[in-house]
Amino acid sequence: MTTRAATIQRIVGLMVMISSTACGAGAPRAPQSVTQEPFGTADGKPITVYTLKNASGMEVRAINYGGIILSVKVPDRQGKLADVVLGFDSIAPYETNSPYFGAIIGRYGNRIAKGQFTLDGQSYTLPKNDGPNTLHGGTKGFNKVVWDAEPFDSATVRGIVFHYTSPDGDQGFPGNLKTTVTYTLTDDDRLIFDYQATTDRATPVNLTQHSYFNLGGNGSGDILGHLVTINADRFTPIDSLLIPTGKLQDVAGTPFDFRTPTAIGARIEQPDQQLKFAHGYDDNFVLNQPAGDTTPSLAATVYEPTSGRVLEIFTTEPGLQFYSGNFLDGTLSGKGVVYKHRYGFAMETQHFPDSPNEPQFPGTILQPGQEYHSRTIYKFSVRA
Ligand code: GLA
Repeated sequence: MTTRAATIQRIVGLMVMISSTACGAGAPRAPQSVTQEPFGTADGKPITVYTLKNASGMEVRAINYGGIILSVKVPDRQGKLADVVLGFDSIAPYETNSPYFGAIIGRYGNRIAKGQFTLDGQSYTLPKNDGPNTLHGGTKGFNKVVWDAEPFDSATVRGIVFHYTSPDGDQGFPGNLKTTVTYTLTDDDRLIFDYQATTDRATPVNLTQHSYFNLGGNGSGDILGHLVTINADRFTPIDSLLIPTGKLQDVAGTPFDFRTPTAIGARIEQPDQQLKFAHGYDDNFVLNQPAGDTTPSLAATVYEPTSGRVLEIFTTEPGLQFYSGNFLDGTLSGKGVVYKHRYGFAMETQHFPDSPNEPQFPGTILQPGQEYHSRTIYKFSVRA
């Protein structure tokens, strides 16, 4: 068996186990297939859209360019399906203009200050694509490459395994980084992201997913009425360029206290220096989960009262970047929607920003011989 076939078999086995634990072992279900259609070309290679459908009607469409999720259709409390993510209609805007809609982010999600870090006594310089800083892996990060993609399915889960080998020196980072990202859709409306990587030289790795959500349905208005709960007592305060100061700050008494459900819009315009720096929320929360936990814990819950839709986010990561769509300004449009200010939000599970320059933050350096593993689950449901 090839390594790839073995990986797929292992993942399907694991997912079937998870799925049968959650759904009741042995419940017979009709097999669901993954359909494929062409979606243009990028970098001279054919792009394919893979459609995953589960037994309850949830549908996820994703492409092999950037692993981008094009759409996620989930029911509201009346059972009516709507697409709850922002996106475009064709490949071109994803190549030129996208604020990371739906994409896999790597090698390093979030910012690295001044596009520089030192590792084992050697300094590395990265392309600067966010003022003086490097954002989301550089100018051609994992969101802008064509991945090898292989769909899989079993009776109760279906998904796509994406592979990409980022060569030594890619965007200034050391080491050949072999990366596998698996998307799995279960019958109980969980979308699971498994990230794996190995390297032949020490390198920073911080992989995430950058879907923008509007649980009222894409185009239903701004996201300020969504109620957010984040399981974090602390966050990493930032400077005016959104680089962490290196300190951890208590959320108590600040607009960053989301320990009880709070509307995104409730405090977003308060005269708070941190909110001003980011023009809203664009901050990393320090999740209250046991360090090194390999079982995903509940990081955040988002509830949209009009539709009743709920998104719960579970992760093995120590951090969560909550971004309230502050840079959307009506200049982009797709899927019949003009993306106005705060028409979507992102919840990026990750290690903390700028960790390669902040030795006291949880480490992000992957060594040769180690395997990087990270898992995040988006669980969709409704409340009456
Ligand atoms: C991340 C960053 C934001 C912004 C968006 C894309 O969420 O933290 O500052 O760059 O990506 O616009």
